[in-house]
Amino acid sequence: MDYQIVCNKVCELARQTGAFIKESQQKSAIDIEIKGDNDFVTQVDKAAEQKIVNGLKELIPESGFIAEEGTSDIKGEVFDWIIDPIDGTTNFIHGLAPYAISIALQEKGELVLGVIYEMGLDECFYAYKGSPAYLNGHEICVSDTKNIKNSLIATGFPYSNYDRLDGFMNSIRYFMEHSRGLRRLGSAATDLAYVACGRFDSFYEYNLKPWDVAAGVFIIKQAGGAVCDFNGGDNFLFGQEIIATNKATFNEFKGIINDIMN
Ligand code: IPD
Ligand code: CA
Ligand code: CA
Repeated sequence: MDYQIVCNKVCELARQTGAFIKESQQKSAIDIEIKGDNDFVTQVDKAAEQKIVNGLKELIPESGFIAEEGTSDIKGEVFDWIIDPIDGTTNFIHGLAPYAISIALQEKGELVLGVIYEMGLDECFYAYKGSPAYLNGHEICVSDTKNIKNSLIATGFPYSNYDRLDGFMNSIRYFMEHSRGLRRLGSAATDLAYVACGRFDSFYEYNLKPWDVAAGVFIIKQAGGAVCDFNGGDNFLFGQEIIATNKATFNEFKGIINDIMN
């Protein structure tokens, strides 16, 4: 498979679907359903996911899907797409950027492509197996910040699973006192894309799903960054906890999260 050709087509599909999402927001009142505590889905998420799944099926007919809104859950023999049609639905509902489409491709369980299209700033982040990472056609890389003291750190606030809240609140306090500051944008895919291009030095969050992180994980690695779970292991795609940083601060950041959150 020519990963570059497939990646270009996925970027095009993400941009087309992004235009549909933005138009839908401007055109009519958004119909909101509640999936769980503070967990929303709109008819636009569902229609966008359908468009993405249809487009990807044309691209690789035999592929399977892990898609947030459940449009398709066919398991592929070789290829599986991991899709979040709108990451940052609460932002989208409130007319607030950022919100993004996140699409990743796995080949026999290995991530080989990631695309994150953030609609607010019209920014498409992408990478494919063997490539550097790109933002709108320009090569990007993680920051060269050397320590946490000089780092700008992103996270997400849990909105339904409060089991680890004590540790999480301690981590917020720690980073307030020992870094340049913390940001909470409301879109994990965008947080990860911003680590890949060096706007953030690091990101951590628990309770995330594979479709929130798959594309971002791949793009960060191709941009020279590092990713792990809260124990420093590899269970960040399905394990619901993730640390992503530039190379230079990885060990320091990992050590802090391991101490505070575990
Ligand atoms: C959410 C966003 C948010 C994160 C939540 C996710 P959604 O995704 O990524 O930043 O904090 O945990 O669920 O529901 O808007 O697709
Ligand atoms: Ca999401
Ligand atoms: Ca979503």
